[in-house]
Amino acid sequence: MKRVLSGIQPSGRLTLGNYIGAMKNFVKLQDLHQCYFMVADLHAITVPQQPETLRDLSEANAALFIAAGIDPAKSNVFLQSAVPQHAELGWLLTTLTTMGELERMTQFKEKSNGKESIGAGLFVYPSLMAADILVYNADLVPVGEDQKQHLELTRDLAGRFNHRYGECFTLPEPYIPEVGARVMSLDDASKKMSKSSSVAASFIALLDPPDVIRKKISRATTDSGAEVRYDEATKPEISNLMSIYSQCSGSSLEDIRLKYEGQMYGGFKKDLAEVIVNTLEPLQKRYYEIRESGEIQDILAQGARNAHEVASRTLDDVKQRMGFLPSKH
Ligand code: AMP
Ligand code: TRP
Repeated sequence: MKRVLSGIQPSGRLTLGNYIGAMKNFVKLQDLHQCYFMVADLHAITVPQQPETLRDLSEANAALFIAAGIDPAKSNVFLQSAVPQHAELGWLLTTLTTMGELERMTQFKEKSNGKESIGAGLFVYPSLMAADILVYNADLVPVGEDQKQHLELTRDLAGRFNHRYGECFTLPEPYIPEVGARVMSLDDASKKMSKSSSVAASFIALLDPPDVIRKKISRATTDSGAEVRYDEATKPEISNLMSIYSQCSGSSLEDIRLKYEGQMYGGFKKDLAEVIVNTLEPLQKRYYEIRESGEIQDILAQGARNAHEVASRTLDDVKQRMGFLPSKH
């Protein structure tokens, strides 16, 4: 049995991009492995957040994990901030990370681009992410394509630590879906679908009501031409919609192409909206039941207790290896 860890920032309401790129794999992996899934609230504050909004989104997104099929009896679901070893190991790993490595991170470049004042937290974000993963010695990290570079840095840091202080960390592997690793914006297929986008029509939130989903899909940008065919280079918009269709229905891209052969975009988009609605309706129903029941607090508390047990063992070992005297409380 392997260890699995992943996290999603509560920087907005979860989207279909999060679901397809990451959460579907969370659900798949939990039957095979020991899983840790966290709400990455410490990462969310690398850009300004309102305390009230952060609280609300943290709880809502944790409930969405469960609603999406993460079973708290199988997986540990918790808040990153509830397990202090993340921040502590994050600091220790920051001291092993070079400025050059952090400067090369494309997510940092994108998020800091054009900003006058850039928080230092945004810069050291990847060493905290490395800590999230290494503190559990995770073997597998289910993420979307955009996180691959952070995973490579994590592996480098693990290797560097092991080289300097002796074998301690497992080198984690990314676990990325073949189709849908990068779900693009509905209004612009050159941009990633993002929960923190200010354009609501660019993403589908997991809690969007059916009519909103139908409207967003009917207005989604499509390429010129009329063929429903997968070709990222020449048909990026339709290719994006096809991968969403594939991931929500289970049909292969080829099956979808055959099904809509000789038809215009209209019918395909209409069906796509229904495929998404059918995927999200049961999730939404469960979400409201979970919120109603108030059980999320207990789930998070239990998850944090289990996570803490593993994380504190790793951190003790790391600190001892680095030369810190044992502290007595
Ligand atoms: P974030 O929303 O940036 O906290 O991302 C949480 C997880 O969802 C990460 O594993 C991301 O790679 C994944 N993710 C976010 N947006 C997308 C997207 N548009 N397509 C695929 N995966 C995504
Ligand atoms: N950086 C990730 C993102 O923006 C979220 C995240 C934080 C994460 N810690 C993690 C993902 C650890 C995987 C493992 O998508």
